[in-house]
Order: sequence, then structure tokens, then C-alpha cells
Amino acid sequence: MVNVIGLGYIGLPTALMLASHGVDVVGTDYNIELVKTLNEGHTTFKEKGLDDLFQDALQSGITFSTDYQATDMYIISVPTPYDKFSKKIDASYVIKAVESVLKVATKGAIIVIESTVSPGTMEKFIRPTVLNAGYELGSDIHLVHAPERIIPGNMVYELLHNNRTIGADDEFIGNKVKNIYSSFCQGEITVTDIKTAEMTKVVENTFRAVNIAFANELARICRHDNMDVYEIIKICNMHPRVNILQPGPGVGGHCISVDPWFLVGDYPSLTNVINQSMKTNDTQPDYVLNRIYEIMNENDIKDTKRVGLYGLTYKENVDDMRESPTLQLLESQHKHLASELKVYDPFISSDVVEYQYHDLDEFLKDIDMIVIMVKHDEIKQNLDKIKGKVVLDCHNIINLPDVYHI
Ligand SMILES: NC(=O)c1ccc[n+]([C@@H]2O[C@H](COP(=O)([O-])OP(=O)(O)OC[C@H]3O[C@@H](n4cnc5c(N)ncnc54)[C@H](O)[C@@H]3O)[C@@H](O)[C@H]2O)c1
Repeated sequence: MVNVIGLGYIGLPTALMLASHGVDVVGTDYNIELVKTLNEGHTTFKEKGLDDLFQDALQSGITFSTDYQATDMYIISVPTPYDKFSKKIDASYVIKAVESVLKVATKGAIIVIESTVSPGTMEKFIRPTVLNAGYELGSDIHLVHAPERIIPGNMVYELLHNNRTIGADDEFIGNKVKNIYSSFCQGEITVTDIKTAEMTKVVENTFRAVNIAFANELARICRHDNMDVYEIIKICNMHPRVNILQPGPGVGGHCISVDPWFLVGDYPSLTNVINQSMKTNDTQPDYVLNRIYEIMNENDIKDTKRVGLYGLTYKENVDDMRESPTLQLLESQHKHLASELKVYDPFISSDVVEYQYHDLDEFLKDIDMIVIMVKHDEIKQNLDKIKGKVVLDCHNIINLPDVYHI
């Protein structure tokens, strides 16, 4: 039996995928409400294909509990934020989860850490946790790191098709874990050592963060000297060895806006490019805010009450708002001046910010200028409704005359 610990955006789909492919799974989360919701037959977030997968897994016998199970294999998928001051990983959630698992694990159990961790986390935090609890590594307990690459919005497809990495001290144990993931994963699974697996995951997200920062910097240069950044990137990407990502209103989520900081925190004198890239991305919402004021001036819009931000989530077609550019922008404007920017997101039904709307038509009725912060499908399907408004399109998705860009 596999006990999946942490049933959030990553743990839940992983548990469901294993269960629906014949693996005996119990999902554990210490959030009582979350476990109650799952046991009542409901998923806890919106994701394409998740509800069907949930039904398959229920039929295959998955159960959910707040208790840790006595078994020989655990997959831990709990948060790994970074410390805002030191920029280093905050490994406290992973350590606590491992401590709880150790209280019930059977002899010879494998603990797979799926959470993203900085290189050396196993060595610095997890091995000592196991040893301090009186267990011997490599016999009583085996440690494995199996980072996750799926993208919210396409998680179910990517779980099935992405290549994976498994880091283990012992090839035999690495292959045993590979067999479990092979129950559903059709991609290639590479078995390597733990520190390499830790580093690869962080490097992948850092590569994307640096590339986005480069695109954002190009957008600023092009804005400054009146060039079309999208046309320029499109042409550059026709070069066979150039692949620049798109500029945007900033970077959010639990991965690209977090993981590169682990490297800055651990290797401060060696990470100039990464450090500067993260700063560029983090200041992008401020840059958008300045663009809003510029465009308001140009169009004689006197009051931020008449301006609306479309989208609160950190990316399109998901309901995850963690570290989102819109939240960063709102935080920044509150610091500087009293303002009443209006906000709407079709994926957010609860009230999370001031002046928030829950209906697109109502939102549009009360604004003269719309800022596309998130490229949800909904807005692409309702472009006729924004005709006549001043539009700042932060994603270059709207092909209408007179649209402003970042
Ligand atoms: N969300 C993503 O897109 C994504 C993609 C790849 C990797 N990751 C990584 O996966 C990990 C998990 O991220 P997430 O987005 O699923 O987080 P999440 O916050 O959505 O879920 C974490 C869950 O763990 C539970 N939890 C925390 N400590 C626990 C404990 N000791 N015992 C039991 N349950 C516990 C929480 O209640 C929560 O439900 C992170 O390291 C993240 O960086 C996330």
C-alpha cells in the first residue's frame, strides 16, 4: 500500500492516478476539512479531468484519512516555501511530515519526497531527522526524491505523459519506486542519485524564470524605444536555436516564483543572473501598475475606480492564486496610494480582495478600462463585450485595434 501524504495540488492527482492504475492507496492530509470534503465525494480544486479521475480512483478503492498509515511506502507532497529573508528553503513541512511517517512506518519502508526541495535538503534536513528518530538509513528506512513536473491546467495529461526523475541512494530502491510510478507514467523515468534529482527540478524552474525575466526585460526595452516586443520575439524564435518565452504581468504560483530563490539563498555569491531575474519578475506587477497610470492619463481616465483587473489567479484556467501577479499588484498599489481598482476572476468564487466582482457583465459595466492580467479562456470567448473599453492586454491575446500592451 502507498500512503500519499499531503493532498493538495500535487498530492491529490498523484494519489488518484496511482489508485486508478491498480495501486492500493490511502491519501493522508492533516487538514480535517479537506479530508472531509474528499470523503464526501468532492474534489477540492478545479482541474481539467480531475473529477473523472477522482471517480475512477474511488471505484478502485482509494480512501482518505487524517491518519498516517503503517505501510512500507510513502509519497510526501507537502509545501516547500522559501524564507523571504534568507531566500533559503523552508523545509519545516517536509521534516514534520517525515517525523509523523516515522512513527508508523514498517521496517524497510521507502519514503519518497515528491515536494520540490533545494539541492542538499535530504542531506541537511531529512537524513538527520531519520537518524535522530533512531532508524538506520538504507535498512530501516530508504529515502527517495521524485520531483514533480506537472503544470496546473493540464495536470492529468502531464501526469500520464511527462518524463520523470527519481533520485535514490540505492539503484534497487530507485527501480522499485520507478515501478510504482510506471503503473501510470508513460514517459521515460530516469533513476539517478538524490542530490542530482533535487538540483534538476530546481534548475528546470530556474531556467523558465530566467527566460521569462529576459522576455520581461525585452518588453521594457521595447516599450522604452517604441518597438513591438511580440513581433521581435516571434521573429527571433524562428532562429533554430532561439526559444524566448513571452513577457507577462509577472510570475506567480508555487514553482517558478519560489524555487529559483532556493539557489540564491544557498549560493548567494554564485547566482547573479538568477537573483537579478527573480527581481525583474518580482517588479513586473509594479511595472504594469505604472503602465496602467500612463494609459489612464493618455485616455483621460481620472479615477482608478473605473479600471478593472481581469484575473486573480497566477495562470489561466486554474483556481490557484498563490503569489499571483494580480495580488502582488494590488499589494503594491495599496502601499503607494489609495486606489479602488476593481477585480474579477471567473475561477474565484469566494471574496478575497476588495472591490471584487463575481459576474463578468457587472464587472464590465462598472469600468472604462480593463487590464488583462490572466488569459483565461472566458475572456478570449467574450472579446465582443470589451469593445469600446480601453484595454491593457498583458498577454497579447487580443487582436483588436487600439489595444495597449505592457
Ligand atoms: N502546485 C504545483 O504546480 C507544483 C508543481 C510541481 C511541484 N510542486 C511542489 O509540490 C509540493 C506540494 O505543492 P502543492 O501545490 O501540492 O501544495 P498544497 O499546499 O496545494 O498542498 C499541500 C498539502 O499538504 C498538506 N500538509 C502539509 N503538511 C502536512 C503534514 N505534515 N501531514 C499531512 N498533510 C500535510 C496540506 O494540508 C496541503 O493540503 C511543493 O513542494 C511544490 O513546490 C508543486
